[in-house]
Amino acid sequence: MPLIAFVSPKGGVGKTTLAAHVAALLAQRGHQVLAIDLDPQNALRLQFGLPLREESGFLGEITRRPLWRQAMIETGYGVRVLPYGTVDPLAALETAQALQAEPELLVGPVREMLADPERIVILDSPPGPTSAMSALLPLVDLMVVVLLADAASAALIPQIASNRWLGRGRLATRAGERGVVVLNQVDLDAPLASAVFDGAAETLGARLVGAVCRDEAVAEALGDKRMLLDARDGPAAEDLRAVTDAIAARLRLAAPGQQGRRRGSFAALSDWGLR
Ligand SMILES: Nc1ncnc2c1ncn2[C@@H]1O[C@H](COP(=O)(O)OP(=O)(O)OP(=O)(O)O)[C@@H](O)[C@H]1O
Ligand SMILES: [Mg+2]
Repeated sequence: MPLIAFVSPKGGVGKTTLAAHVAALLAQRGHQVLAIDLDPQNALRLQFGLPLREESGFLGEITRRPLWRQAMIETGYGVRVLPYGTVDPLAALETAQALQAEPELLVGPVREMLADPERIVILDSPPGPTSAMSALLPLVDLMVVVLLADAASAALIPQIASNRWLGRGRLATRAGERGVVVLNQVDLDAPLASAVFDGAAETLGARLVGAVCRDEAVAEALGDKRMLLDARDGPAAEDLRAVTDAIAARLRLAAPGQQGRRRGSFAALSDWGLR
């Protein structure tokens, strides 16, 4: 049911890395996860070890109204992926224009995906505003804004805190309220990073849901077609788990198997006046 979007006004900050790791960690906990790449770079599939020759996709084909169930690719991580598809830049531009004219091309299928209460849908997006993301804004439950702990990111934090970072309309403000922040590539030994982290924590409070340290293991793992899914994979792996925990807590995602227990009706309690 929940739709989690990884977004950022900035490029190269770790949106794809975080989207893929959170997806894989949630799948590892038994959730049914579908990850959609909204970025014509088509990089999300690489995180899941799909081969470069795999050129099929979903959003890049959206004007042809692809069937999303058929476009889904199973990965070795228990996550199903809808890659963007390999397309030339002009085609990506045409897709963006088509979505602006007819958002329902994307909103319709995503609504269908979300109709399954067990399914978690994760979006990886390109930097900045896009027609795909604006189309999906009303459906998003959690927008995870990825920033670095640097001066340029620090300058954006007040906008995020005031819920105005997606624009000034009511829809944008409401979507903005669902935004949380993760700082990535943080080196707490660097004075600037440490100061930005402290400032973000003060300004954003509980909306700063986590930080991931800068760790060469992240880039190396991608080069090795692996993900860092074990806390023993190093400091970034531990941070990625903590971010996943925070997102799960925020969305009140009960681990599968515990849902029944949580939701149980416990009929006797009402007889005893306890409910
Ligand atoms: N915590 C980290 N420590 C070290 N390197 C990292 C970390 N997080 C991401 N990287 C590396 O930084 C680069 C950019 O990451 P990624 O592609 O996830 O960013 P992005 O925000 O999705 O970029 P784009 O805006 O191009 O989509 C990649 O090479 C990735 O391996
Ligand atoms: Mg990316």
